[in-house]
Amino acid sequence: MVPKSSGSQRRGTKPNQDSSREPHGNTNIVDSLGEALECRSIGLLRRKVKEIAETSYEDTESNSNGPSGSYLPLKEDLVQILDAQTLERAKYYTNRLLKSLTGNKTNGINDINLHRWKQYDDILTDSLWTFDKRDTSGSHLGWYWGNFVPQIPHQLILRYTKRGDWVLDPFAGSGTTLIECVRLGRNGIGVELSEETKSRAASLIASESNDFGVRTVLKDGDSTRMDFSKLCKKSGASRVQLTIMHPPYFDIIKFSDKSRDLSNSASVEKFLVEFGRVVKRTYPVLQDGRYLALIAGDKYQNGEWIPLGFYMMQEVLKNGYKLIGIVTKNFEDTRAKRDQKELWRYRALAGGFYVFKHEYIFIFKKQS
Ligand SMILES: C[S@@+](CC[C@H](N)C(=O)[O-])C[C@H]1O[C@@H](n2cnc3c(N)ncnc32)[C@H](O)[C@@H]1O
Repeated sequence: MVPKSSGSQRRGTKPNQDSSREPHGNTNIVDSLGEALECRSIGLLRRKVKEIAETSYEDTESNSNGPSGSYLPLKEDLVQILDAQTLERAKYYTNRLLKSLTGNKTNGINDINLHRWKQYDDILTDSLWTFDKRDTSGSHLGWYWGNFVPQIPHQLILRYTKRGDWVLDPFAGSGTTLIECVRLGRNGIGVELSEETKSRAASLIASESNDFGVRTVLKDGDSTRMDFSKLCKKSGASRVQLTIMHPPYFDIIKFSDKSRDLSNSASVEKFLVEFGRVVKRTYPVLQDGRYLALIAGDKYQNGEWIPLGFYMMQEVLKNGYKLIGIVTKNFEDTRAKRDQKELWRYRALAGGFYVFKHEYIFIFKKQS
């Protein structure tokens, strides 16, 4: 199934779409639901709930968040109460709705209010992610060849961190992860080998308005040799709560001439050794029981499909992580790819192979 949320549907809201979901409730509705719970007959209860439905929705077509962010119950919640056949059942649904308006229930690793889980239809839970367009809002300029779409870190950050948590990206590139951190109120630490790329990323991150007052540290350096504990300490973090890794896919894109650049590794085997070093070095700074996301793709070499993504997955699994999920994400058509599309299709037909249209997002949990 293709998930509901796609690039083009992504928030116009900045900086944190979560704010309208906080349990401030709507006092009138809360009071009226409280009164409905006191009703001694199902007829009276239904009348009360009908009044709520009529007054709540008379000025808006909205089915979830009311005007100016005030929360309305979903219409279907009210309908469920109205359809209940017994007073007991109707009170059960009323009570549940009341809880969802006034309470906050989370799983402890993110800010998703499980009492209102139906409202998070922008958060993907399927293993196939299809984005038809990249998010190019604000400083997400998409200028860096080999970046990922901002929707990837956006989804991961909302799912695996809370506001104020720390996110680490040891292959920061153009700073996509760190920009999302600023927008969503998470602190970010990034490492990028290329000084030039790092500088441009840093100025773009600085141009985002820091409405949550979070800290962002972006350092140029080699992640295969980095002392991440020291870097975290210096940044003001004892540990991080999410690591996002988007390394080069071996030599598919050559990012620089530097010998320490993973895209210049002499062979797939050497690439995996270097990648494994980054996994080892970042391991101690991730809080126990928290998550690492690896974004990776495969490659063809001499007519053979090299499952690089799965080789990288194995490197992570060797280092104390448990695999939680594998998401397949489509490649959006970039202009360069569109120009070459016909050629690749011809080559695929002639050579009996397939043109890459996907990459993977592996989600791991650090064993406690
Ligand atoms: C696939 S890109 C990451 C792109 C990033 N997610 C973005 O959206 O811009 C991989 C990055 O890793 C960097 N890199 C390669 N070897 C590295 C190393 N040893 N240490 C740190 N960064 C490295 C490259 O310069 C490149 O910017």
